[in-house]
Amino acid sequence: MSQNRKEIDFHSITGFAEEFTVRSPGRVNLLGEHTDYNGLPVLPMAIDFHATITGRSRPDRQVRVWADQFDHEMVEFSLDSTIPKHPQGHWINYVKAGMQGILDEQTDATNPLRGCDLVVAGNVPQGVGLSSSSALVVASALALLQANQISFDRIALAERMAAAEHYVGTRGGGMDQATCLLGKKGHLLNIDFFPLRVNPVRLPDSVTVVICDSLVRARKTENALQAYNLRAVECRFAAMLLKKYLEHHQRPSNFQRLGDLTGEPWHYTYTEIETLIREALADEYEYETICAELKTIEKINAILDDYSFNNTAEYGKMVFACGKRFRHIITDSIRVERSVELLEKKDVEAFGRLMNEGHASARDDFEISCPELNRLVESAQEFGALGSRLTGAGFGGCTVNLVYNRNVDGFMKKMDGAFYSQKKVRIEDVMFISEPANGAEIRSFP
Ligand code: GLA
Repeated sequence: MSQNRKEIDFHSITGFAEEFTVRSPGRVNLLGEHTDYNGLPVLPMAIDFHATITGRSRPDRQVRVWADQFDHEMVEFSLDSTIPKHPQGHWINYVKAGMQGILDEQTDATNPLRGCDLVVAGNVPQGVGLSSSSALVVASALALLQANQISFDRIALAERMAAAEHYVGTRGGGMDQATCLLGKKGHLLNIDFFPLRVNPVRLPDSVTVVICDSLVRARKTENALQAYNLRAVECRFAAMLLKKYLEHHQRPSNFQRLGDLTGEPWHYTYTEIETLIREALADEYEYETICAELKTIEKINAILDDYSFNNTAEYGKMVFACGKRFRHIITDSIRVERSVELLEKKDVEAFGRLMNEGHASARDDFEISCPELNRLVESAQEFGALGSRLTGAGFGGCTVNLVYNRNVDGFMKKMDGAFYSQKKVRIEDVMFISEPANGAEIRSFP
C-alpha cells in the first residue's frame, strides 16, 4: 500500500480540461463491528488513503467514466432513467450506486441533473476491509453534485449513501459512508445510527494506529458478499425472535433493530439488552426451527431472497446463529461506550484491552475471523500492541493495532519478521500507518 498520490492527467485521458477534483477517504474501524446495521454504535476513523475523481460537467445527461487504472477502460451511461447495473463485481457499479442515490432524491423534474465526464483513481487498497467501495460510492455522488453545483448536508448525504450502496448487493450499515464524509483529523468518530449522529473523540497523542494486511482477500463483490449478508440476515432473524419473545411476555415489541430498544418506550440499557438476549435467544437455529418459531416459511424465504441468497433449494440446510451474533453485537456496543469514556481520560491501555476483547468476540461469537487474522492479532499482542483486532467486515482483510508511538518501529519490525518476511510482499504494501484524517474534500478549478 503506497500513500504516494498520483495526479490524474484528466486532459490526456479525456481531451478536456478538468473543472473539479473530489477526494474521499477509506476508513479503519477501531471498535463496534457489524453493530451499525443493528442501530448500535461504532468507533472508526477516516484514513489518509482516498478514492479520487477528477471531472467536468457536460451539457447533456450522459456520464462517461474512465478508470485511471485498467487501461483507461471507459464506461458510459445515461441519467435519463434508473441506471442499469453492470455484472456483479464491476468497479463501475460503485460509481453508479453513488449517482443513483443522488438521482433517487432528485425531486425537481423541471431541472434535471446534467451528466459529467470523470476519471476515477485512488489508493485505498481493495478487498482488505478499509472501505475502498464506499470511498468510491461517496466520491461519485460528490462528483455528480459538484458537476451540477448542488450544495449538500454531510449528515443527510451520509445517510443517503448508506442506502444507495445496497445497489451493489451488500446490505451494509452506514459506518463507512459516514466516516468518509465526516472524518475529522486527529479524531475517532463515535457514530450512532437511525438517525445518524457523530461525536468526534480525540485519539490521544501517545499512540499510533498501525494497520496490517492478513493477505486474505475478502472482496465484497465475491464470496464475502454472501458471508457478510448472512450475518445481516442472522441479526434480522434474531430481532424477529426477540420481538416474539417480548410479545409473549406482554412487553412492547414494535421495534426493527436491536438498537431501537435503547429508545422509546423501552429505554433499556445495554446491560439490560444483554440479559434479554441471554434469556430469549438460543445460540443457533436451524432453518426449520426458525420457520416454526416465527410461524412463516414465506417471509423467511423472502428475506433470504432479498439478501441475495437466491438459491431456495439450499435454504433448508442453513443454520442461523442468532443468539451468538446478538451477544457479539451487544457486548461490542458496551465496549464502544466504555472506550469513549476511556479515551476521554486518555487511558489507552484500557482502551487497547477492549479492542482485544472485541477481537475475541468477533472471532468466537460473530465468527468473522480467519486463521491469518488470528495469527496477526496474537503476534501483535505478543509484540506490545496495546490492542489488536480484525477491522471491517472480516473474513480476511486487515487488523488494526494500537501501539505506543515509541514502540512503532520495533513493533513493525517484529510483525514483519513473524508474518511477512517469508512472503513475497513489500512491507509498505502490507503494513501502514495513518493518522485519523478529514472527510471527503472537493476542489474546483476556475
Ligand atoms: C462493512 C459495512 C459496514 C459495517 C462493517 C462491519 O464495512 O459496509 O456498514 O457493517 O462492514 O462493521
